[in-house]
Amino acid sequence: MAGRSTDTVTRAGTARNGEPRLDIRDLDVRMVIDGREVNLIEGVDLAILPGQTTGLIGESGSGKSVLASAIIGLLPDSMTLHGVIEFGGENLTLVSPRRRRELRGRSIAMVFQDPLASLNPVQRIGKQVGEILRRSGMHGAALRSRVVSLLERAGIPRPEERARAFPHQLSGGLRQRSVIAMALAGDPVLLLADEATTALDVTVQKRILALLSELQADTGMSMLFVSHDLRVVSHIAERLVVLYAGRVAESGPTREVLARPAHPYTRALVQSIPAVHSRSDIGTPLSGVPASPLDRPTGCAFHPRCPLAQEICAREIPILREVAPGRRSACHFAEEVLANA
Ligand SMILES: Nc1ncnc2c1ncn2[C@@H]1O[C@H](COP(=O)(O)OP(=O)(O)OP(=O)(O)O)[C@@H](O)[C@H]1O
Ligand code: SF4
Ligand SMILES: [Mg+2]
Repeated sequence: MAGRSTDTVTRAGTARNGEPRLDIRDLDVRMVIDGREVNLIEGVDLAILPGQTTGLIGESGSGKSVLASAIIGLLPDSMTLHGVIEFGGENLTLVSPRRRRELRGRSIAMVFQDPLASLNPVQRIGKQVGEILRRSGMHGAALRSRVVSLLERAGIPRPEERARAFPHQLSGGLRQRSVIAMALAGDPVLLLADEATTALDVTVQKRILALLSELQADTGMSMLFVSHDLRVVSHIAERLVVLYAGRVAESGPTREVLARPAHPYTRALVQSIPAVHSRSDIGTPLSGVPASPLDRPTGCAFHPRCPLAQEICAREIPILREVAPGRRSACHFAEEVLANA
């Protein structure tokens, strides 16, 4: 929108207390493949409150990145959006590409798995971190000082020196911290982290998780933390959304979902990582092949792998419904699963 001030842009997404900052309702992401329209994401509901971290979990191909890209407006042109992504009073499925660009990197920022993909190899780190500030009219000493403070805030030692470095001169952990500094530069109210720690070794991963939690607590931003690794997500997210073949299987507070899953798929995920609950290194791997949204089984997409499947499961799609306060499950037998957890 012409004449929109930076302040208005950066404050978009500010929600009143108790209201979701991001409210996704009945979202589909569709694509035509081999002449057939396929729902990569189907009927997804997901809400994130101000200052809350929600974990988005699911096996490879379940649609986590497609959903994150839909929120930030980075889907390829071949995909279409249907439904509501409400953010700061706007439905992002309807706003103009220009408005999307305004929000991206400012009100909504994203950190991806591979920091090298987000960084320009031939440009110094400081210049890249300062890019969005420069576009907002900041320059000179004020810009340099802000860049150094952002790098410092992202936990980068010797920030003045690192600001002059090129990406290849930094370790993987420092590169990811630089990308986080870039994300913070726009003062986002919503940060999307897509497998942001997956490529890092365990020690660095823990430090980056701690940093993200700290920044989230300091700034009050909301976060969608996307990962295929339930252990990682359980450390950082207050709420979990479990995706299976592009649909939500279960959602609820992390501790409750892990302690008493209300969906057989979540239960299988939890059992595959006993480290969440026990000291044993041996989990029970999930059997069968993950369903692809491109070739989703009829009824409940999990039915070919589900030990509790009944005849109705192959026939009817289970509706995502509340099964306990704050908890939802898309299983025909959710109450039994919860009662026997
Ligand atoms: N550009 C694309 N063209 C065609 N299909 C795509 C495209 N991007 C994603 N898909 C398909 O959409 C589905 C969801 O993919 P997505 O990348 O969101 O999965 P994911 O949950 O992020 O997996 P991972 O854990 O491996 O990152 C997959 O079946 C994938 O093949
Ligand atoms: S609906 Fe049926 S197949 Fe799907 S998770 Fe529940 S019991 Fe298993
Ligand atoms: Mg992904």
